[in-house]
Amino acid sequence: MTTRDENTFIATWTEPFGAVWRAIAGAPTGQTPLAASGGSPKSDALADLPKTPFPFAADAVACQRVNGKLHVSFPLGAGEDIYGMGLTYRSLNQLGQAKCLRMGHYSGQEDGRTHAPMPFYISSAGYGVLLNTASRVHTYVGTTHPREAHPPLQDRVHPDWRPIQPGRTVDFYLDAPGVEILVLGGPQMLDVVRRYNLLCGGGCLPPKWGLGFWHRANMNWGEKECLELVDRYREHRLPLSVLGLEPGWHSNCYPTTHDWRTSLFPEPRRFVAALEERGVKVNLWQNPFLHPDCKLGQSLAPYSGSHTGSWGGLVPDLTLPETRRLMQEHFIKEHVAIGVSGYKHDEVDDESWLPPFFATYPSGTSPEEYYSLLGLYMQRLGFEMFRAANRRTYGLVRGSNLGASYLPYALYNDCYDHREYITGLCSSSFGGLLWCPEARTSSQAEEWLRRIQAVCFSPLAMINAWASGEMPWTFPEVAGAVREVISLRQRLIPYLYSAFAEYAFRGIPPVRAMMLEPGFSVSLDVTAGKLHGTDNPYSRPEARDVADQFMFGPSILVAPLFAGQAERRVLLPAGRWFDFYTGAEVFGPWHTIRSNLGPIPLFVKDGGVIPMLAEGDDLQPLTRWRNLEVRHYGEAEGVFSLYDDDGETFAYEQGAWTKLELAVRRNSAGRLHGCVPAPQSHSVNPAPVCTWRLTFQSTATRQGQVGMKSSTAIDRRP
Ligand code: GAL
Repeated sequence: MTTRDENTFIATWTEPFGAVWRAIAGAPTGQTPLAASGGSPKSDALADLPKTPFPFAADAVACQRVNGKLHVSFPLGAGEDIYGMGLTYRSLNQLGQAKCLRMGHYSGQEDGRTHAPMPFYISSAGYGVLLNTASRVHTYVGTTHPREAHPPLQDRVHPDWRPIQPGRTVDFYLDAPGVEILVLGGPQMLDVVRRYNLLCGGGCLPPKWGLGFWHRANMNWGEKECLELVDRYREHRLPLSVLGLEPGWHSNCYPTTHDWRTSLFPEPRRFVAALEERGVKVNLWQNPFLHPDCKLGQSLAPYSGSHTGSWGGLVPDLTLPETRRLMQEHFIKEHVAIGVSGYKHDEVDDESWLPPFFATYPSGTSPEEYYSLLGLYMQRLGFEMFRAANRRTYGLVRGSNLGASYLPYALYNDCYDHREYITGLCSSSFGGLLWCPEARTSSQAEEWLRRIQAVCFSPLAMINAWASGEMPWTFPEVAGAVREVISLRQRLIPYLYSAFAEYAFRGIPPVRAMMLEPGFSVSLDVTAGKLHGTDNPYSRPEARDVADQFMFGPSILVAPLFAGQAERRVLLPAGRWFDFYTGAEVFGPWHTIRSNLGPIPLFVKDGGVIPMLAEGDDLQPLTRWRNLEVRHYGEAEGVFSLYDDDGETFAYEQGAWTKLELAVRRNSAGRLHGCVPAPQSHSVNPAPVCTWRLTFQSTATRQGQVGMKSSTAIDRRP
């Protein structure tokens, strides 16, 4: 760090892991997101990442105390784009934006108030910077110009007047006694993201059932209506994996008791067991505003803040181990032990319902820091309870922060703008977050279909009918198309589960913004800015902020349609791409899609290998798959690493998992054929033996002909 004046902090960089540099400025408080999230770095996987040099000149990072606050400044190169800074909804490229990052319910204004305010950015130049702080942080991404280095002065009336060029720094400004700073190497943006995820403990691996379809019941429903709902899904031949209960299940809400409302659920254990018999898990809504008279409220009163939240509820101080212990004890007894599968931790995000900043907490933690960590504490509390029972959980949370990648929760919110939901899917991938773009209700059929289609290509596929009581089949004119996409989601679970395994073990996000995809980068090795003989399309401003398409697993590109949109363009990464449904080649870089209530546009990269549950198997339980259809797209050889384990316990951490390399190769006659080259599996403690029947199908195109060219059946005993 520079020594610019006597207020400058001098710190030295250490390198605790390859291409992860750490410095401490001042004296940080103990309440930081990385400490609160509690993940342990995956050192082996970190060691496998490429090494890179420190991305800045040794003295280029400046850290000073200015006006009593911390100012940390990093160089920004010409032409660099900056992504990340937590969950964003309107744009991915942060260049030119100044914000105050703070925890809050996003309400349509991209000013830094968000469900995951994370001072962590990734540069298109292939490195990342992170401030591990729970304080509010003002961020200035290329927006500041010191007086001595002001931009060229211009006159607005002059024809050559141009908008100001970006400044040469990314600045952070925060009111904190100190801060831990991490710099992460690449060389590619995806490597930075992987490094970050692995540092936080790797990505989460949800149970298999978590990747199936979810439905949140109307809040006034009881046992009878819920069981009827499950029957109706069956009648409609729709898979249902998880039923979510909303506030009505509590004996009082809000404030919340965390005890069952016996008029609706007379015997909770029987209810949960009845659903389990039908292959459906139960997820419980909850928030941290405790009813002062309930059992939990009484025991937690001494561990709660000085002021109540909006609904008169006590807000427990979760930074205290005793608070967490008491909460877990109650949840385990009343919920986990009777078979409940997880939680939706709601309303952990906003100061409008949390107590004021002048409230006090028994631990002495400041409300400002506490509220930005509350969502992390709740996720960790939930995760640890299930982990202790050797059961994996998957749930929802409305507030998160740095360090959450290993915690099995998807974020959501109430804003309900479909486009912003898709941007959220993209932006979440920069910071180890999972995002659930909700479908609750719609004013018309097309919108309902478009929302459910997008939901089915997100980390957690759910209808949130808590207030609407809406069903997948609500709009008869699209009921068939809705069924098709839910069934397709279900069939893609082997592919998606393997993508999650890559997240868990190697830090690769299962759903990714396009900028993380090779072949979509301005830094591609192109000759003089040219690609395929045309101007490099990826260097244009619209490509540097593409937020309405994303990658799903290793080889599927999703380009969702929005209501009222009969056509849209998709920017295909360099290379050849094929239509998922027909196998026909599509030509880019910009490809126009036309659709009239059609399926969600999906494209597969050349050589993409996609294992799917065989047709008709979408209603089977999601425990072990037997018959897999393995599709191959295009003409290039390809390989897919099919991961499998018991799908619900932590035995995989002890090596009880299996991996099969599904390969599609050309034989000596030049024909594509599917094979499983040996050896395929790593197993310290092998997963229970099972047989897969794999049917390879190649969807190749030649002279305009589209069709399945070869098919091989393989029985495999791993
Ligand atoms: C909101 C939440 C909704 C629903 C509702 C129930 O805070 O975002 O998804 O759960 O509470 O009151």
